Amino acid sequence: MLRRRFLWSILVVVITVTLLTGMPGCRSGNLPDESFTPPYSYVPNTGLQKDKLPEDLSELAEWPLRDLADVLNFHVGTAVAYTAQTFPNSEQYVEVLTREFNAVVAENVMKWDTIRRSESSYNFGPGDAIVNFAEENGMMVRGHTLAWHSQNPSWLMGKNYSREEAIQVLEDYIKTVVGHWKGRIKEWDVVNEAIDDNGKRRDSIWQRWIGDDWIEIAFRAAHEADPDALLFYNDYNLEFLNSAKQNAVYDLLKKLLAKGVPIHGVGFQGHFGLEYGGAPSKATIKASIDRFAKLGLYVQFTEIDVRIPKDVTPQKLQEQANSYRNIFSAALEHPACNAVLVWGIHDGHTWVDYLFPGTTAPLLFDAEFNPKPAYDAVRECLIAEIERRLKAEENGQ
Ligand code: XIL
Repeated sequence: MLRRRFLWSILVVVITVTLLTGMPGCRSGNLPDESFTPPYSYVPNTGLQKDKLPEDLSELAEWPLRDLADVLNFHVGTAVAYTAQTFPNSEQYVEVLTREFNAVVAENVMKWDTIRRSESSYNFGPGDAIVNFAEENGMMVRGHTLAWHSQNPSWLMGKNYSREEAIQVLEDYIKTVVGHWKGRIKEWDVVNEAIDDNGKRRDSIWQRWIGDDWIEIAFRAAHEADPDALLFYNDYNLEFLNSAKQNAVYDLLKKLLAKGVPIHGVGFQGHFGLEYGGAPSKATIKASIDRFAKLGLYVQFTEIDVRIPKDVTPQKLQEQANSYRNIFSAALEHPACNAVLVWGIHDGHTWVDYLFPGTTAPLLFDAEFNPKPAYDAVRECLIAEIERRLKAEENGQ
């Protein structure tokens, strides 16, 4: 009898320990509903730098986004456009960039068609300018993107590589580029948009030349070049719970993780349009983050914008602000999410204007760099999260 009770108590301890170490944020251990140990477990997004807070918290209402984000150890970032009208030439652009954001990603200049514009050389100049600037201004850099179906140079598209040749070309490129910014670019979108809306593999040069395992080849090459970099799979429409696409990406990442492929995060691009109802609800976004977090992955919002069907009205600006609110409040409260980046600074420069005709104005600042209702919504979310964490601390949580 005594012996049986002893065995029972051992069992209870084992079950408790297993459940606890499987919680998001713990370093290892099996997750409750998974049969494998994820290769990486995140540092949870829960911190609060109290010493940075003013005595009078009402002052926060005037703080720029990056200062609020710093208090939370969170990254609020933006895509940087390297053009004659934007970075590094426009003083106003650079001023808002520096004031409001603590993370950056290159909108275009770290893609194949810039870095390998020529077959015979690498062009790191524009990317270097962004990385140097980020370091001078204390900003985290996300690298975007190493393997994608789009924005590849025509010399590459014109090749007819064998599988072996294509693997060699992809690995060489990834190792050279990740190696070039080793230790300086902390996070990479290694693979971009490999799954289509029906959950099938999207056609691309890499898919055609190499076959299904091109994805793991890409991740392994990136990891070899910089073992400390966080490596992401990045895609759009992943915010919609249990959609064919979300399911397919979930299954793909789960399989790759089980094989030991070094993947540390998933990027939800977050391109929304009010013509389709904007971003999903906070609850849906939270559930979508949860799903991937349970695999042991970070989840970041990497390219947020919310298009407005013309013409812009005060009412639509409010709806847009609500979409931003759903995204930021879900992201900020989630331990597995530590960054949200918007896909541009101001409505004067956005891909929406040249790629989504009939829609416009998707960002936080208007074309004259005035903050929009969406900006206020983001600021309110950051302040609410600071207050939430303060309260949790007071309650000893
Ligand atoms: C877009 C850029 O914003 C445009 O300037 C360019 O012409 C096309 O690409 N998903 C991505 C980004 O991962 O790289 C895309 O950026 C937007 C969609």
